[in-house]
Amino acid sequence: MLTFYIALCLLGTVSQAAYFSQQPQDQVVVAGQSVTLPCVIVGYRGMVQWTKDGLALGGERDLPGWVRYSLMGNPLSGEHSLMIDSAELGDDAVYECQATQAGLRSHRAKLTVLVPPSDPVVEGGPVVRLKAHTAHNLTCRASGAKPAAEITWYRDGEIMHDAIYTKDGKRETAVSMLPMVPEDSDSGRTYTCRVLNPAAPAGRQTSVTISVQHPPSVTLSVQPQTVMEGAKVLFICSASANPEITGYRWSKGGVPISEANGDSLEVTVDHSYFTDPVSCEVSNSVGSTNVSTLVDVQFGPRLLTEPKPQTVDIGMDAAFTCSWTGNPPLTLAWTKQGSSVVLSNSNTLQLKAVTQEDSGTYTCKAIVPRIGVAERDVTLTVNGPPIITAEATQQAVKHSKGKLECLVGSSPPPDKIVWTFGDMILSSGSSGRFSVQTVHSDRGVLSSLILSETLAQDFQLRYNCTAYNRFGTGMALVTLEEQGMGSSCQIILCKTSFYLQFYIFY
Ligand SMILES: *[C@@H]1O[C@H](CO)[C@@H](O)[C@H](O)[C@H]1NC(C)=O
Ligand SMILES: *[C@@H]1O[C@H](CO)[C@@H](O)[C@H](O)[C@H]1NC(C)=O
Ligand SMILES: *[C@@H]1O[C@H](CO)[C@@H](O)[C@H](O)[C@H]1NC(C)=O
Repeated sequence: MLTFYIALCLLGTVSQAAYFSQQPQDQVVVAGQSVTLPCVIVGYRGMVQWTKDGLALGGERDLPGWVRYSLMGNPLSGEHSLMIDSAELGDDAVYECQATQAGLRSHRAKLTVLVPPSDPVVEGGPVVRLKAHTAHNLTCRASGAKPAAEITWYRDGEIMHDAIYTKDGKRETAVSMLPMVPEDSDSGRTYTCRVLNPAAPAGRQTSVTISVQHPPSVTLSVQPQTVMEGAKVLFICSASANPEITGYRWSKGGVPISEANGDSLEVTVDHSYFTDPVSCEVSNSVGSTNVSTLVDVQFGPRLLTEPKPQTVDIGMDAAFTCSWTGNPPLTLAWTKQGSSVVLSNSNTLQLKAVTQEDSGTYTCKAIVPRIGVAERDVTLTVNGPPIITAEATQQAVKHSKGKLECLVGSSPPPDKIVWTFGDMILSSGSSGRFSVQTVHSDRGVLSSLILSETLAQDFQLRYNCTAYNRFGTGMALVTLEEQGMGSSCQIILCKTSFYLQFYIFY
């Protein structure tokens, strides 16, 4: 009884004796849980108040304005513990319990609120579509955690160590990127992103499945591989793709074949299929693949370069070029008309220091074994002095009309052709019984000395036919022989045979 009074006296009068029997300590709480910060003051009846980061919470026990905060215990027993219901991130602060009138301040207690991470989010999930052979970062994000979550990747349950981790300090967001270059074989794999922090030691995880997409893989085949020109071939374009094929486009030598849009194409081939590839382009939403092929079309020679006729001066060089294509590879042969000697097997025929005998027609012949043969003619003209062709002995019937002929066949054509015999010189027109006729033909210039009536002395002479051009002169001597000594009925016949002979000869 005595002690009770003593105690009463002490409480009422000696406030200096008040002291904390319990003080708040540093505490850690997971968000959502409740926490109590103890404060028990012995020997004090005055006002007790809590501060949060230095800010007073108020003097009443139900702490109006702080819905989840309240003071606990019996105040008469000096109990003033602060209870925080369902802790939030905002409760993370330094708390102090104060007995204002006694000038008492408790220990400054730090309340740390931990927040577990929410379920991680993997970009593109739940089925992540990736392009084959293209680098990609599989990205997992864990937000709202405090402290920021640790992130671990698993591939089909196996831990992956090469992820790149970053965190954003303010928003406590952690990101982990797992670099990968997906292969077709990765399709269907499961990648799991697991996050944890001290508020969620068991962690949370999200799994995604990989679907590896690729542009079509294409093979283009031809059936049959080797064909003759004019035959039919079938192009088959086989493709596999993920996602599915959206279309086929065909072209030949870069020119689209608009009517073809399926996985095969039948055509009648010509030689152009040997040099212009046919291509098949297959597309899906990821990309397209274009594959080309040539056809082994067999075809006879086709002229690529036509040889050009040439005219050169005597002593100069000449060259002809002719080129062909064919399949299988062709052989080439140059010959001169009238001879079977092969002068060259290459595209170009070289003729050095030509003579007038070299003029004529040359043939460039191409042979594609078993398939075909073709040739082209080209002429060489050699400019030189006149070359005269004439029969040394020509015939006529006495007292009848007679004729002597001389043909100048070389190039350039003669400026003039002069007949000299006896004391006569005649190149054109007529003189007495004699006249000269000149006829141009593709074989040359034919000069005829015509005798209106032959006399005996005409058969004694030598007739000199001389031709001139800028390269020099050419000359031939001709004699006239009496013909048809038999019956007159033969004359016409023999005359006919003379012309016949002439045409055959020239
Ligand atoms: C993946 O992330 C790393 C690091 O940020 C970056 O260097 C790389 O370029 C990224 N790769 C791709 C394909 O985005
Ligand atoms: C496919 O490639 C070839 C050769 O490069 C080209 O000529 C053709 O135009 C391409 N085809 C398409 C459909 O793009
Ligand atoms: C032929 O005639 C030409 C010119 O008239 C002369 O130069 C030449 O010597 C003659 N030839 C003969 C063999 O008489």
